[in-house]
Amino acid sequence: MIGAAGIDLLSTAAIRDPHTPLRRMREQDEVLWSTRHKCWVLTGHAAVDAAFRDKRLSAARGMAAFRSRLQKRHADLVRNALELLDGWMLFNDPPAHTRLRDPVRRAFSLRVVQALAPRIEQRVGVLLDACDAETDLVSGFAQPLTAGIIGDLLGIDDEARAFVHQWTRDFGQLIYGVSSREDGFATAIARAGDEFRARMAPLIEAQEAAVDGNLIARVKAASQAFDWTPSELLGAVSMLLFAGHDTTSALIASATRVAAGDARVREALRGDEASAASAVEELLRIEGPSKTFVRVAPDAHERGGHHIAAGDTLWLSVLGANRDPNVFAAPDIIDPARDPNPHLGFGGGIHFCLGAALARLEARIALGSLWRRFPDLRIAVADSALRWHPGVVDRSLVALPVQLNRAT
Ligand code: HEM
Repeated sequence: MIGAAGIDLLSTAAIRDPHTPLRRMREQDEVLWSTRHKCWVLTGHAAVDAAFRDKRLSAARGMAAFRSRLQKRHADLVRNALELLDGWMLFNDPPAHTRLRDPVRRAFSLRVVQALAPRIEQRVGVLLDACDAETDLVSGFAQPLTAGIIGDLLGIDDEARAFVHQWTRDFGQLIYGVSSREDGFATAIARAGDEFRARMAPLIEAQEAAVDGNLIARVKAASQAFDWTPSELLGAVSMLLFAGHDTTSALIASATRVAAGDARVREALRGDEASAASAVEELLRIEGPSKTFVRVAPDAHERGGHHIAAGDTLWLSVLGANRDPNVFAAPDIIDPARDPNPHLGFGGGIHFCLGAALARLEARIALGSLWRRFPDLRIAVADSALRWHPGVVDRSLVALPVQLNRAT
């Protein structure tokens, strides 16, 4: 058996089950130099939490390096796509990060999110009514739901939003590209950049800034004090559309897979608001959609007894941290009532997820309604036949075929 440092986290086996290799790595050292990936892999809760909060680490540098490589090789092709990144707070460090985050944080308040509950219930109901007895839960429920809700928030109607699924897939080649490559990725990235600009720039331009309007109007109003450029605004909207759609739909599908094998989880999801909310936290912990985040160390420093050299890359393994036995008793066992549950599914520090409240609300309503409506839901294929998207950053199912028998 190869040593933990040589483990390939992109192998077919590790894409299907990342937990076993991550446990092996953590057991060797929670801060481990991966000879396979040529970076530090952090798998302990304390190490990952500290790295999320560490001002010495850069979220911008990893993407900057990938961006400049792409620019050198495909400059004309990918110009529009790379410009969108100007508005992605996630790939910026302070002070640029603060300038990009602040208006979105102000515009995207808890009140705005909570007001969406009836709309989420309505979209869930319509989608579940339309489900066939045999359905792919990803394309038939999770994706249209989350794309619909983020579309509602941004004021993009269903027709104008039809491009979002393919766009998310194409643009994902850029966002997840630091750690995964598919064939023709530059063409897909180019298509995503061009398409987003063509479809969304006129819509954003036509939207008046308003503090009580849709999310685009509110972000426009809040960003006036920060002198955003048009490409920063376009980029920020692309980030909200991408983040608002992709991760939450991945959570709903993964959580359904887990719940199908666990009666206590199903019961909690069907139960009152508090028990369903607690189950969602546990589902985020045990099989959340965020696998890894990348940071770069601009300067040399000590970490976990190791010398981190200037320029080293660090992979912060959220999945690894979320099953650390030093923090979570019986970490591989699902406990829908786990309390406390300090999982790192939404990250930590200055980049803590801005959409956490929306993701929690959507997941709670979607999963609760699903299991109330279809208590006998079955996964239609063997677990080993399920396909996961390859890559280090996200953990998401390509499809989840299910059989639905309506409750009588
Ligand atoms: C289950 C669903 C979701 C999960 C697991 C998730 C997870 C995360 C994580 C781990 C980060 C931190 C990344 C880092 O530190 O590098 C993050 C950042 C972010 N998320 Fe989410 N997210 C989810 C849904 C959403 C939604 C629905 C939205 C918005 C509509 C959203 C918007 C953002 C934004 C804007 C950031 C960047 C924050 C910053 O860089 O300051 N997320 N998310």
